[in-house]
Amino acid sequence: VSLASLEAYLGQLGAPTPLPSFPDADPVNNPNDIYRLYITDALSKLLDCDRALIYESLQRTSTPSKGDLVLVLPRLRLKGVKPSELAVELASKNRKKAIIEFSSPNIAKEFHAGHLRSTILGAFIANLYESQAGWDVVRLNYLGDWGKQFGLLAVGWQRYGSEAALRAAPLKHLLDVYVRVNADFRPEEAERKRARDEGRDTAAIESRGLFAERNAFFRRMEEGDGEALALWRRFRDISIERYVDIYARLGIRFDVYAGESQVDPATVAEVEVMLKARGVYEEDRGSWLIDFGKHGGAKAKHLGTAIVRGRTGTTTYLLRDVAAILDRARQYAFDEMVYVVSSEQDAYFQRVFATVRLLDHPDHPGLAARLRHVSFGKVMGMSTRLGKVELLGDILDRYAGAMHDVMRGNAAKYAQVEDPDAVADTVGIAAVMVQDMAGKRVNNYPFDMARMTSFEGDTGPYLQYCHARLSSLLRKASLAGVTVDVPTGSPDSDVEYSFLEDNHSAALLRTMAQYPDVVGIAFGNLEPSTVLTYLFRLAHQLSSSYDVLQVVGAPEGPRAALARAVLYENARQVLGNGMRLLGMKPVER
Ligand code: ARG
Repeated sequence: VSLASLEAYLGQLGAPTPLPSFPDADPVNNPNDIYRLYITDALSKLLDCDRALIYESLQRTSTPSKGDLVLVLPRLRLKGVKPSELAVELASKNRKKAIIEFSSPNIAKEFHAGHLRSTILGAFIANLYESQAGWDVVRLNYLGDWGKQFGLLAVGWQRYGSEAALRAAPLKHLLDVYVRVNADFRPEEAERKRARDEGRDTAAIESRGLFAERNAFFRRMEEGDGEALALWRRFRDISIERYVDIYARLGIRFDVYAGESQVDPATVAEVEVMLKARGVYEEDRGSWLIDFGKHGGAKAKHLGTAIVRGRTGTTTYLLRDVAAILDRARQYAFDEMVYVVSSEQDAYFQRVFATVRLLDHPDHPGLAARLRHVSFGKVMGMSTRLGKVELLGDILDRYAGAMHDVMRGNAAKYAQVEDPDAVADTVGIAAVMVQDMAGKRVNNYPFDMARMTSFEGDTGPYLQYCHARLSSLLRKASLAGVTVDVPTGSPDSDVEYSFLEDNHSAALLRTMAQYPDVVGIAFGNLEPSTVLTYLFRLAHQLSSSYDVLQVVGAPEGPRAALARAVLYENARQVLGNGMRLLGMKPVER
């Protein structure tokens, strides 16, 4: 192994190269030195301290259980800092950073099932990275707020727009306008398709009618025309404002509303200059493309040819995505970026990543290796059942409505619910989340409103029911004088654990103890079903415990009751944590 081949390999892994150097280090023969070099490099940016001293203070630990390397802070001889405080500070600065890009609907178009899946899944993945793996997470919504379809919306606005309707229901009105102008546009698109199928040139068709109007408006936007941009900004702003509210209903907030429009034109230019310099950018009848068959190597051969700049001279979805990656690398210096987008865009993201690889930007070595597409299958039959075009708010209303009907089915219990509308909303959202997360991500699944809102079977309402039942059990116990210290759930010295040595209690404790492992596996595969399957196992075990492990009126007496109440309180916390990790809000009643 030579240093060059080692560095080539590290580069493939996404590690920065060339390796930082240090006289005493022997990274080719001593793998631990590879880590020492990188860590020294990272720490020298955070500490006002000689590099050699840092390098020498990184020592082997006495046993593997203490980790691989330890930084002996007192050896750094830093004045006026407490090692214990510095350690905490350094650890927090060395946290890895992930951008999780999810939801990403298109302004003025319907919010379809794919966007909903991306929203649910993306929120879960962001939670996993943040709360379970300790990463700094940027939740980013990449709005479809640019491109020719936006030009078409603007043309539609000129024809059908109404200020009053826009004020009353902005998202709805923009969608209506888009649907109408799109209907006007359909004959022209059909004409172009015919021409294509017959091998005729389509340029003439695209130079007149709505084609021309649409393209001209989008050109004006790209050229920075003030009036065009003002209209676009209004539509974008009111859409974001409404979306913020609706996401809040799902318990989701984004750190950044980016969008295709926010990509820096200077970065777009930089990308194109570099692609030309690399000899991979070809002009073809006015458009610019990359032929992956020629340039991408064996791994990219199947990706064919991608148009990067269109014939009308405007940027494409692909070009904007590639430039956005550079923008984000500079702004956030992310260690990983995850795109949560449906499998319909599998090939597309392979092309995006292959383009970044070809770009081979000298400032960002190994950038492509830090990008990850988390893909998922289709929801079958949802759009037909819920009506053709929809907004996220409408979709959630439907779940809440259906859930409310199911709840009314049990009059006695319904009467005990304080705010049935809010509970129906929360449980309805749990219903759709569980239906969505029950299978492996890649699988398509059929949409089934009756099944998902049922309290029977492995559904969201069933999980909510289990959480509410535990909460109710603990409320009753407390009324009967058996009180557990919430929120710590911690025992005081009065609790006698010997009461939890029976088979039922032990089995329950074992299952609860598996939670961290289960979450660790989920962080590896990013499959919510890993967590969900576990939660159902826990829930079923709880259901079969209540008759055996009684609290109020336990025949074994009040000391057993207290020990069991502590057990149940802890089970409630595990169940609740798992539900929150998945994005649900556990209900108490
Ligand atoms: N707006 C796109 C759509 O609705 C999804 C965006 C996915 N993210 C990306 N960086 N291309 O299909």
